[in-house]
Formats: sequence, C-alpha cells, structure tokens
Amino acid sequence: MVKICGIGAGYVGGPTMAVIALKCPSIEVAVVDISHSRISAWNSQKLPIYEPGLEEVVKQCRGKNLLFSTDVEKHVHEADIIFVSVNTPTKIRGLGAGKAADLTYWESAARMIADVSKSNKIVVEKSTVPVRTAEAIEKILAHNSKGIKYQILSNPEFLSEGTAIQDLLKPDRVLIGGNEEPEGQKAILKLKSVYANWVPEDRIITTNLWSAELSKLADNAFMAQRISSINAMSALCEATGAEVSQVSNVLCKNTKLGPKYLNASVGFGGSCFQKDILNLVYICESNGLMEVANYWKEVIKVNDYQKSRFVNKVVTSMFNTVSGKKIAILGFAFKKDTSDTRKTPAIDVCKGLLGDNACLSIYDPRVTEDQIQKDLSMDGVEWDHPIHLQPTSSTTVKQVNVVGDAYEATKDAHGICILTEWDEFKTIDYQRVFDNMQKPAFIFDGRNILNVDKLREIGFIVYSIGRPLDQWLKNTPQQA
Ligand code: NAD
Ligand code: UDX
Repeated sequence: MVKICGIGAGYVGGPTMAVIALKCPSIEVAVVDISHSRISAWNSQKLPIYEPGLEEVVKQCRGKNLLFSTDVEKHVHEADIIFVSVNTPTKIRGLGAGKAADLTYWESAARMIADVSKSNKIVVEKSTVPVRTAEAIEKILAHNSKGIKYQILSNPEFLSEGTAIQDLLKPDRVLIGGNEEPEGQKAILKLKSVYANWVPEDRIITTNLWSAELSKLADNAFMAQRISSINAMSALCEATGAEVSQVSNVLCKNTKLGPKYLNASVGFGGSCFQKDILNLVYICESNGLMEVANYWKEVIKVNDYQKSRFVNKVVTSMFNTVSGKKIAILGFAFKKDTSDTRKTPAIDVCKGLLGDNACLSIYDPRVTEDQIQKDLSMDGVEWDHPIHLQPTSSTTVKQVNVVGDAYEATKDAHGICILTEWDEFKTIDYQRVFDNMQKPAFIFDGRNILNVDKLREIGFIVYSIGRPLDQWLKNTPQQA
C-alpha cells in the first residue's frame, strides 16, 4: 500500500489530501501539522476552515484511509510520497522583506524530512515557492541524506477558496514538474499514477522543475493582472459614463480573451495574489530585470489604488466626513463562500474609514468576531515599506462592532458598504433596510451585486464600481 504524508493541514493541505484519500481508497493518507489546535479541529465536528463540500469528503474518509495527526515525524518516516503544503508568506524582515517569500517553514520541514527518513522518498512541493526552490531543498536533503535518495517534484496547487473541492475533483489541469533524469521521470510517473485515479490523462501536464515553479507564480500574476486591468477601466468608466459591466461583457465575448477574472471589484484579496506577485517582483529584481519587476508592481499599485479610491468615494459622498457616523460593512471575507480574511480588501477599507473616525458595524456570514477584531487591530505589513507588527490603540477597536445579521448592521446607519459578494446580500429586503437608516441613505457596492435602479427607486444614493454616478455623487466634489 502506498503511503502519503501531507505536511501542513491548512487551506491547501487539508482539502487536497482529503480529495486524494477520497479518490484513492488504496492509499493511506496522513495529514500532519505542528499546530495542535488545527489538527484537533480536523479531528472534530467543526473543521478549521469553511469550504463547501469539504465536510462531506472528510467525513467519508476520516478514520478509514485519511488521518490527521501532530505526530509529524512518524508519518513522514512511514511515507513513500510527502506533499509539503506549508505556508510561504511574504518575508516581513531581513533581506527581501516585503517582497521575497519566507521559506522558513519549508526549510524546517525539509530538515525534519532529512532527519527522520530511513527510506527513499518523493518530496512534492505543493506550496507556492520561488522558482529554483527545489534546488535549495535538494541541497538540504542531500547534505543530510545518510544515503537515502530523494526525488523532488513541483506540483503546485491551483484550487481557489470557496470552490476548492470542485476544483480538486475536476481540475482543469494538474501540473507536475520534475528532474529530467530517468529517476526524476520515474517519480513524475508515480505521482501521475496517483492523480490518474480521477484526473483524465490529457489534463496532467508535465514539465521541468523550473517551469512548474514559475508557472504557478505566472498563473496568479496573470489572473490578478486581469482584475487590475478591469479595475483600472472601472475608474475610467466612472469618469466617462461608460459602464464597466458592459465593457467587461464585451471583452468576455472575445474568444481570444475568455470570460473569467473580469469582474470589477473593490480590489482583489486572498493570501495568494499579492504575495505571489511580490515574490515574482523580487525574483525579477534579483535577476536584474527591473522593467519586468516594475510591470508586475503596477498590478498591486492599481489594486491599492482601487481600495483607497473606494474609501475616498465613501467619505467624499458623505459630505467629506464619516466621523462619528455609523457605516454598515456587509461582508469581510476576501470572497464569498470562505471564512478566510487573509489580505481581504475589507481590512484596508475598514481601516481607511476608521482613520476618518467612522463607527463600523460589521456583518459577515462566516467570519468570526475574533477574527475581524484581530484583523483590524493589527498593523499590516505594507509591501512597499515593510515594517512593524504592533497592535493599534484599543480606541480603534471600540469603533468596531461585529453583529449577527445584515439588518442589525444597517439599523440607524448612514451608509452601507458591500465588501464581499455573499449571495444573501442580493436578497436582503432593501426597503426595510432603507426605512431603518439615517437619511440620506447611501450604499456603496464594492462587488457590483446589487440592482442599482431598484435601490435608487427606493431612495438610496448608490455608488457601484465602474457604473455611472448618481446625480448626487456627480454634484459632490469627488477627490478620487
Ligand atoms: P495555511 O497557513 O492555511 O497552512 C499551512 C499550514 O502549514 C499551517 O497549518 C502550519 O501550521 C503548517 N506548518 C508550517 N510549518 C510546518 C512544519 N514545519 N511542519 C508541519 N506543519 C507546518 O496555508 P495555505 O493557505 O494552505 O497555503 C499553503 C501553501 O499553498 C502556500 O505556499 C500558498 O501560497 C499555497 N497555495 C495556497 C492556496 C490557497 O488558496 N490558500 C492555493 C494555492 C496554493
Ligand atoms: C487564487 C487563484 O484563483 C488560484 O488558482 C490559486 O491557487 C490561489 O489564488 P483564491 O485567492 O482562492 O484563488 O480566489 P480567486 O477566486 O482567484 O479570487 C481572488 C480575489 O480576486 C478575490 O478577492 C476575488 O473577489 C477577486 N476577484 C476575482 C475579483 O475581484 N474579480 C474577478 O473577476 C475575480
């Protein structure tokens, strides 16, 4: 029986290993993590992450061929194939701080593998890593090998949160990069045979190691670049009377462009896009490719611009101040169908409004109050000036209330900001909401999910990204 060990039980490691266990009943899959709380949550009724369909998959396999454990060394020692899905965040200090990937967790996993292994292993990079990381990992393993042979493969993960299970069950592609020597090719075939249990062969792409590592960074950079492109257009639409959804619909129908990643928004978030573009920028700079680095930096600059443009729009529309005003924030997760708040645009928007002394009443169907308060009380690490990590003053936190539903959040509010496209926000009784708000009542739709005409009929003053402005907003001096 083949044994697989997945190191890292996070958003990638947990769902990925669970689907392998589901689709390969003859493989024993152990998911290990140094975090005791995460592992005990994976073993409980309440999983540590919310992902549609995940609970069903875990319940079907857990205790059969899927187990979650903190006994990292035992399961690494027993495994034939080790998937490493540990976090690779942006470095916050030292050389490359603010851009380069922090490979501390990866390195410690590699050293541990070298320490405990007593048989040959295939080590699979599942985490997103800088190109040529496999070389560094190989050096660590080889220098501590005690005669054991390791084959390193790059098998980056393409799942998106919120649709992770569907993405894993029906991937559009599985990418496996390996060493071009016969031993490397043998390892590729072994990993391919695992995926072949449910993925059609023509969707499994094999490449050399460096192409696989770089393709993952390129993939995320291209998707983020499309969002920044349409967001840049949204600003121009507002200035000219064009409508961004009409423009994106025209682009979507161009078969040369394709339909996805063209929804204008308050900005992209999530743990991957910004981190991976910064990583790409750092790699370009390290290779002396400054023009290429600057090109990709602009994708992040436009994203930052889109978030601050949104905040400015809220403040300028509401008579140039939100001081002491109650603003309802609907949605805090970085996208719908996830509880993840990493790099969510909501953090920057909320902090911008708090900076103007607004009182926020926040509702998200899946994000806990603790998480929201934590996110808003920590200083972020800015990509262009990487410093600090100090909690901000407690008075800021007191300006933030987290509540249990949208009606409570919007009661007596002066304005509403929609920051996540949760489906339930489309079906709220906006007449009831309007009746219970201060007047004039404003709505700022950062996800373009609402029916602007209907809201205007009710009496709201509406701002929607990239759509023609209300007469009201046109007559108010806009700073953005
Ligand atoms: P995560 O923070 O949710 O999970 C990482 C886990 O690894 C944590 O639970 C941590 O405790 C554990 N860990 C760290 N060092 C360890 C060690 N030495 N031994 C055992 N466990 C260890 O991160 P994630 O979102 O799952 O991302 C993991 C990697 O996958 C990153 O490189 C990320 O860029 C990439 N990725 C993420 C996504 C996504 O949607 N989140 C998608 C594709 C790729
Ligand atoms: C992304 C990649 O899609 C995935 O392949 C990779 O493995 C991890 O990073 P994820 O961050 O989970 O996945 O979600 P995704 O659906 O790509 O959305 C990222 C951000 O972009 C979200 O904040 C989303 O709201 C935003 N977005 C997406 C837009 O603003 N407009 C769009 O058209 C699409």
